[in-house]
Amino acid sequence: MFKILKEKYFMEYYTNGFIETNISLSDNLVNEIREYYLSKKIGHNDFPKFFAYNEHLGYMMQKKFLNFFLKVFPKFGKILVKNFYNKSYNKAVYCEQIFIKKILKELLEKGFFRFFKTHYMLVSYDMYLHSNHLSSAAGIHSDLPNFHHFYETENDLSIYIPLIDLNYINGGRLKVLPEKILKIPGNILLKLLYKYFSKNLLYLDKNNYINPNLISYSQINAFIKSKMHQELMSIYKNMISLVKTQYINDFIETIETKGKVLLFNNKNFHFAEYWKNTQQAREIYVIRMLPIYDVKIKLKNKLHGKPFNNFLLNFLENKIQFYEESVDFSQISSNNKIPL
Ligand SMILES: [Fe+2]
Repeated sequence: MFKILKEKYFMEYYTNGFIETNISLSDNLVNEIREYYLSKKIGHNDFPKFFAYNEHLGYMMQKKFLNFFLKVFPKFGKILVKNFYNKSYNKAVYCEQIFIKKILKELLEKGFFRFFKTHYMLVSYDMYLHSNHLSSAAGIHSDLPNFHHFYETENDLSIYIPLIDLNYINGGRLKVLPEKILKIPGNILLKLLYKYFSKNLLYLDKNNYINPNLISYSQINAFIKSKMHQELMSIYKNMISLVKTQYINDFIETIETKGKVLLFNNKNFHFAEYWKNTQQAREIYVIRMLPIYDVKIKLKNKLHGKPFNNFLLNFLENKIQFYEESVDFSQISSNNKIPL
């Protein structure tokens, strides 16, 4: 993260686990986002789409029986996981991409570039989360990398925008364990993916980049089961146990007003407080950004049939670049990338 954020903001992130940008989106835009997503049906939940071919999801929930069911009775296990997510969110909408450009434009106008040392950040996808006082709050977790995105890093940064106040009255505050307390292993997933898949010429494109679209799910599964990946997953699993037993009092809470933008790393351990407001739902809008590492892995174009990975934030020129296809990393020179 030191290579991504300017020193001052790196220190804030390192100490607090997040950065208060003190930038708020205009009321008009926040209301527009809310109106759009509120018109979507309750029960629209994109989370279950991520369950297929991601057996490590079981770790995320730390329920041993769930892991067992996913392995022994995959169908039944998936129903359990689906119910789990329906209890947490009554609406979760991924990759609509309607507001990305508008939001980024406002952020850049309000000086968003000042936080970044790196030349570029990839803007990967957006999501909207809606829950109410009956929903179970998300427990302590780290958003584990998954193979539907394929390219993910330990230093992904989320633009986290509450569409309603998150405070002691409403509840629903995000709490984060800062990096100074505990950090998951860094810069390893892309290394492992590259090491494993670059050996097979069938997976490489004309630029010698690994093309995830050429890799079948059975080959992904072989990677998931490989010793190196299993070792990484057991580190995650042990770390979460450690966090729950030793670091429970070290989480730092955020207090957010409607539309105020927070930057946080979803790979750091975090959880959300129980939502107390019985009159209004908890609504969160997130845009996920990824740093660009110097590794020959191509980006996927589609996430569950929808375009993603196609915006680039260029901080040097303070502009947003939009692409019809996913951003082509092979066109970005090595000195504008972060060494892995
Ligand atoms: Fe999360």
